[in-house]
Amino acid sequence: STRVRRPATTLALCADLTLPGNSFTYTNDGSGEEDGFRGCSSAFRRNNIEEDYGMFVWPCSVILAEYVWQQRPRFSRSRVVELGAGTSLPGLVAAKVGAHVTLTDIAHNTEVLDNIQQICSLNNANCTVLGLTWGDWDEPVFDLHPDIILGADVLYDSAKFDDLFATVTFLLENSPGAVFITTYHNRSGHHLIEFLMVKWGLKCLKLLDGFSFLPSCKADSLQGNIQLVEITLEKGKPK
Ligand SMILES: C[S@@+](CC[C@H](N)C(=O)[O-])C[C@H]1O[C@@H](n2cnc3c(N)ncnc32)[C@H](O)[C@@H]1O
Repeated sequence: STRVRRPATTLALCADLTLPGNSFTYTNDGSGEEDGFRGCSSAFRRNNIEEDYGMFVWPCSVILAEYVWQQRPRFSRSRVVELGAGTSLPGLVAAKVGAHVTLTDIAHNTEVLDNIQQICSLNNANCTVLGLTWGDWDEPVFDLHPDIILGADVLYDSAKFDDLFATVTFLLENSPGAVFITTYHNRSGHHLIEFLMVKWGLKCLKLLDGFSFLPSCKADSLQGNIQLVEITLEKGKPK
């Protein structure tokens, strides 16, 4: 079920999001346990194969969703594209606080895309769902002009970095002033991000330890060294 106590076009005071096997509550009324997500129980990953990655709520998405919630004035009325959205928690929170959201995942993975559609219906979230494979240049990509690009746990396979950053850089160039906000497992100090910034002509605007802004009641069930980074073009293109 979904409950928003204020119209989503203003600031939602509370958003309950239901994903298969999980429910998450976002509130800003400071009422103890309600102030954050509630329950992150059994996720329903069936096999440990990559095709299923998009069917699981990964810790990076819980952290990115929390960041979106805490920064919600910034997201209200913005155009958001989530890459590798999977179960789409950050994008759904963005939609609940009034963003115009496009949720994307691998174009041929109909199971994940159908699941995203179902999650949107389940949560009464009016998002556009689009097949978008990184590094592929299908027509709809050219119509995307996001203010904010989101990506939770999309930096997990170095073989995909070039395709991912080709798409990210294209979207940043296609939408002057846009920013890419991503959460990732930090396994190499900051060398990876530094390397990618130089290679793709990007710059890092903000780098945060994911647990630095996560209330302890939410952090208990999550582990790892998860970083959040905000990225933009090194040389912003004139509007
Ligand atoms: C580790 S999962 C993260 C899913 C979700 N963002 C989360 O954090 O819960 C990686 C996601 O990237 C998607 N993905 C992998 N390769 C991709 C590609 N080449 N193009 C688009 N999406 C891709 C997967 O389908 C999956 O949804």
